[in-house]
Amino acid sequence: MSNLESALQKLQTQMTISTEEVLEIAHKFRAELAAGLAGKPSSLKMLPSFVTTPTGKETGEFLALDFGGTNVRVLLAELFAEGRFTVKASIAKPLNDPNGRYDYIYSKASGTQLFDFIAEQIAEIAKPGIKYPLGHTFSFPSQQKSINNAELIHWTKEIDTTGVEGQNVNQLLGEALLRRGVPNVMPEAIINDTVGTLLTAAYINQNTDLGSICGTGHNTAYLEPNAPWNHGPMIINTESGNFDKLDITKYDEQVDKASEQPGAQRLEKMSSGRYVGELIRIIALDLLQHGLLPNCSTTATQALSVPAALSGADVSLLIKDSTDDLTNISTWLEERLHITYSTKSDRLALKQIALLVAERSARLVAATFIGIINHIDENLDRNHNIAIDGTLYEKMPGYAANIEKTMTEVFGAKAGQITTVLSKDGSGIGAAIAVAITSSK
Ligand code: GLC
Repeated sequence: MSNLESALQKLQTQMTISTEEVLEIAHKFRAELAAGLAGKPSSLKMLPSFVTTPTGKETGEFLALDFGGTNVRVLLAELFAEGRFTVKASIAKPLNDPNGRYDYIYSKASGTQLFDFIAEQIAEIAKPGIKYPLGHTFSFPSQQKSINNAELIHWTKEIDTTGVEGQNVNQLLGEALLRRGVPNVMPEAIINDTVGTLLTAAYINQNTDLGSICGTGHNTAYLEPNAPWNHGPMIINTESGNFDKLDITKYDEQVDKASEQPGAQRLEKMSSGRYVGELIRIIALDLLQHGLLPNCSTTATQALSVPAALSGADVSLLIKDSTDDLTNISTWLEERLHITYSTKSDRLALKQIALLVAERSARLVAATFIGIINHIDENLDRNHNIAIDGTLYEKMPGYAANIEKTMTEVFGAKAGQITTVLSKDGSGIGAAIAVAITSSK
């Protein structure tokens, strides 16, 4: 066995999560969930949403604002009941211009600038003279006091805009709308994207009780049958990305140390699109620096030394290449990282690293779903539909299958009672559904 092969084997041992470990993680997750609900110290924030699942009868025309991190989207949606809806108009803009003209999500940008930019996008869609109730999907940990009052606890996903943490986000939005001269748009609900994903799928399928995002960030919400705030059903945003009862590798440690908020979002840093590319970069660089990818040039060291050089999409590309000589990876190395020379074993190593990181991510995520299902339905008496959105789940080869496989390992024949479904763009439509639920009360 070559040195590279034995290094990869060691990595496989570190990154593989056995069925027993899945169960152990699920168990710890469930314990954290219960502690958080009881107001005891927990890595899960367990944030109330003040909304429950829709009846499916909601109708009407609503504006929805989807603020997830990288982009902002505004949708004009019409709900027709029984899971039917249409998007009548939409606009999407990056919050950090790829051509470098503006950036509203770094430390030198202010909340005022950020929300003025967002109000500008809303004004593109809202016609003067028509009243629009607006639902806002704000995909960051927020302390919710009512359906329309959420204070940002702290940014995640490496966003750093000043003057928003601790503020009532829809108030900032409302003020920006007034400054922009669109008083006819009225923010009426604010939800997390996991809540939106759950709501959208539940509008179609009443068995839906979990909503999750496996994209730039990772987080899950679920329908708690007995929430402490209303002693009845309420959707809770667990902020599961912050779960930290996990065995970590030196690579996870490195990713965490170099992040905006070391110590926070440990599960997210092991599983989400914002970080999986980074993990692969760090592992590959480590092998390179130990002389284990000997055929790569110094260009490779330089290319792999750049933080955030690899994105979630790059990881998908590495996994997807099934050509005999891994020629797609070779082209990608040239075009993306300017590495003009590589051997097949270098490329194979990159693919194997990507597969290990992606599989670990899917199994960790599945373990948290199992923890939640065990909490709400210990003997698995009911059917559960898990709605998932995000690029990892939608686009990464094998990701969805790995989640299902992990569930089957744990639940056996009963795994058939649990369905997982892609809820594409659920976070945006979910905001419209949240307003519809609120206004029908
Ligand atoms: C981050 C945010 C969380 C969001 C998730 C997915 O984990 O903290 O609120 O749901 O990303 O976008």
